[in-house]
Amino acid sequence: MQNLEGLENRPNYAFVKLDITDSNAVALCFEEIKPDWIIHFAAESHVDRSILGPRAFVDTNIVGTFNLLESARQIWNGNFFEKVFHHISTDEVYGSLGAEGYFHETTAYDPSSPYSASKAASDHLVSAYFRTYGVPTKITNCSNNYGPRHFPEKLIPLMILNCLNRKPLPVYGKGENIRDWLYVDDHCDAIWEVATRGRVGETYNIGGASEIKNIDVVHAVIKVVSEETGCPIDRLESLINFVTDRPGHDLRYAIDFSKIKNELGWQPKETFESGLRKTVRWYLDNTSWVKSVQSGDYRNWMQVQYNQGQ
Ligand code: DAU
Repeated sequence: MQNLEGLENRPNYAFVKLDITDSNAVALCFEEIKPDWIIHFAAESHVDRSILGPRAFVDTNIVGTFNLLESARQIWNGNFFEKVFHHISTDEVYGSLGAEGYFHETTAYDPSSPYSASKAASDHLVSAYFRTYGVPTKITNCSNNYGPRHFPEKLIPLMILNCLNRKPLPVYGKGENIRDWLYVDDHCDAIWEVATRGRVGETYNIGGASEIKNIDVVHAVIKVVSEETGCPIDRLESLINFVTDRPGHDLRYAIDFSKIKNELGWQPKETFESGLRKTVRWYLDNTSWVKSVQSGDYRNWMQVQYNQGQ
C-alpha cells in the first residue's frame, strides 16, 4: 500500500483489493465501477518463483486474465466505443535469442519457464478476445524493468540491498546471460502512448536499448553503491558469488522497438547509467519502504531460493 501513498485524495482514484482468480468478485467489481479502460498489470512475475511453484502462475496469469477479459466483454456488451483492454506482458514469451538478432512483434512465441508460458497463454487469450468478440485489446511486451519500488527478488534491487547489507551477491551460472534494461518511467510513458494512441488489436514491443550481461550489471551496481556510500569497491566485489544456474535460463533478450518508435514517437529517455544511479539513490533514501517489504514472506523466499537469511 505504501506504493499508492499520495493518491488517496484524487477524485478519480479508488482502491479495491480482490483476487482476480475469483470470477464473481471481478464481475461484481466491473459492474460497480464500469471501467472504460482496463490496463491489466496484475500478474505473478518472478521466473524463479514459477520454477518452484508453477500453479499460482497458471491461476493468476491465465485464469485471472481470462476473468478480466470475460468481465470486460460482459459489461461492454458489444459497445466498444472508446473502450480499451490493455494487457501488460513480457518479452519472455518469445523465448531466448542467441548472440544475434532481436525480438520483433512477429517473432513466434517460444516460452521457456512456467512464468513465460503463462504470460504467453494470457497474451493468446487477449488476442482471441479481439478476434472472436471484437473486444478492443492492446498488448505490450516489455523487456526487464528496473527503478524505484522494485521488489528485491529481482536482480537489480537484490544486488543493491545485498551490497548495502554486505550479503553475498548470487550470480546464476557465469553471469553471461543478457537482459535489456528498461527504466520504469520510460515503460510507463510507453504504456500511456499505446493505451491512448496505439492501434486496437495490435502488439507493441517496448525495450530499453540497454543490453547488458548480468555480471556487468552487478559490477555497475557495485560501482554506484560504492560511490554513493563510500564503501570500498573491493569489499563489494568480494561479495560476488557464482551459484547454480536457473533451469531453462534464457540466454539473451533484445527488443526491436521500432514499431512503437515509428508509429507513436516513443523511445527510452533514460540511459542505464543515469537510471541505475537514480535507483540506487532511491533505495538509500527510502529505508522504511525497504524495511517494510523485507517482511517474513521475503525472508522465507531468501531462505528457500538462496539459503540466505535476511
Ligand atoms: O524480460 C522481462 C522480464 O524480466 C519480466 O517479464 C519478468 O517479470 C521479470 O521478473 C524479469 O525476468 P528475469 O528473469 O529476466 O529477471 P530477474 O531479475 O529475475 O533476473 C535477471 C537476470 O539475472 C536473469 O538472467 C537471471 C539473473 N539473476 C537473477 C537473480 C534474481 C541472477 O544471476 N541472480 C539472481 O539472484
